Amino acid sequence: MQLKLKLTAVAALAVLAGAASAQDVQVVKIGHVAPMSGAQAHYGKDNENGARLAVEDLNTQNIVIGGKKIKFELAAEDDAADPKQGTAAAQKLCDAKVAGVVGHLNSGTTIPAAKVYNDCGIPHITGAATNPNLTKPGYKTTYRIISNDNALGAGLAFYAADALKLKRIAVVDDRTAYGQGVADVFKKIAASKGITIVDEQFTTDKATDFMAILTSIKSKNPDGIFFGGMDPQGGPMLRQMEQLGLGSVKYFGGDGICTSELAKLAAGAKTLENVVCAEGGASLSKMPGGEAWKKRYDAKYPNQFQVYSPYTYDATFVLVDAMKRANSVDPKVYTPKLIEANYQGVTAKIAFEPNGELKNPAITLYTYKDGKKVALN
Ligand code: ALA
Repeated sequence: MQLKLKLTAVAALAVLAGAASAQDVQVVKIGHVAPMSGAQAHYGKDNENGARLAVEDLNTQNIVIGGKKIKFELAAEDDAADPKQGTAAAQKLCDAKVAGVVGHLNSGTTIPAAKVYNDCGIPHITGAATNPNLTKPGYKTTYRIISNDNALGAGLAFYAADALKLKRIAVVDDRTAYGQGVADVFKKIAASKGITIVDEQFTTDKATDFMAILTSIKSKNPDGIFFGGMDPQGGPMLRQMEQLGLGSVKYFGGDGICTSELAKLAAGAKTLENVVCAEGGASLSKMPGGEAWKKRYDAKYPNQFQVYSPYTYDATFVLVDAMKRANSVDPKVYTPKLIEANYQGVTAKIAFEPNGELKNPAITLYTYKDGKKVALN
């Protein structure tokens, strides 16, 4: 009898304990925004995979914040690389009371979204948007963990002038915040290095026919073309350069064209080997955890790697690291801790300048050999 009573008491306690621990699990949503539809969906998928992998890894760590076991969930949104959809997605994440956001991918969506996040008091970290204007408003909620276009544009202009000794470069941009911004930096630095900008042409981030602008450029006899834009335009432009006999002209671009996909979109054009593109971080082989991380990524998401997933992975961890240091998942409480980050990530040691830019950012130049992207430095 006594034994039975004892057992019942133990069972009751176990039930109570179970109920208490179930109640003590708090779900914390982390937003992610990138283009998941349209011609740039491959970049968005790669970025989202990075954040998703981070959430999965975090959930194996039994993280306790504010006395509660935390289960992270990714609230993934699609902005289709469109500024209006970007602000709508940001507002949706504010309304859903996510604790923080990883994103967005394009400067054109991230810059207007940054104001929305600032207004609702939720921090966001981009691992992809590179326009320097992103951090100009000085929002305490905006962070970037890659180099910006001042570094990318300058690195490319120096390489064109000093390593390749080019003299005549034509510039094309897609009129987005990113394309226009990176092209402007390139033009300025290239001119200061004695390069003549022989032609300036404009396109859009929807175009696929560049025959007219390339014909104009050809008449100016350039030794290089700089393109400010993304790979859905870069790939076809390389094919059309080959068709027009611009096969010996160098082709420069920022991180927007520096993807695995560019090789596919160039569809065998030999001009792919003329590409010199810049990315705002170390190459995977020089990242502290790059190669091991990439193996895990590829096992989980085969053939989806593009550029930025290691950065969205780190961005997710940097948000959670600040929550841990603040012992709170409340954005009002933990956001001030972000600026003090000193986090050893896969991509780099992550610490911020007072304006939310990454401290000591790296850049890497790449070209393509046999259809594969290879680092030049
Ligand atoms: N770096 C590109 C941008 O800022 C993706 O839009």
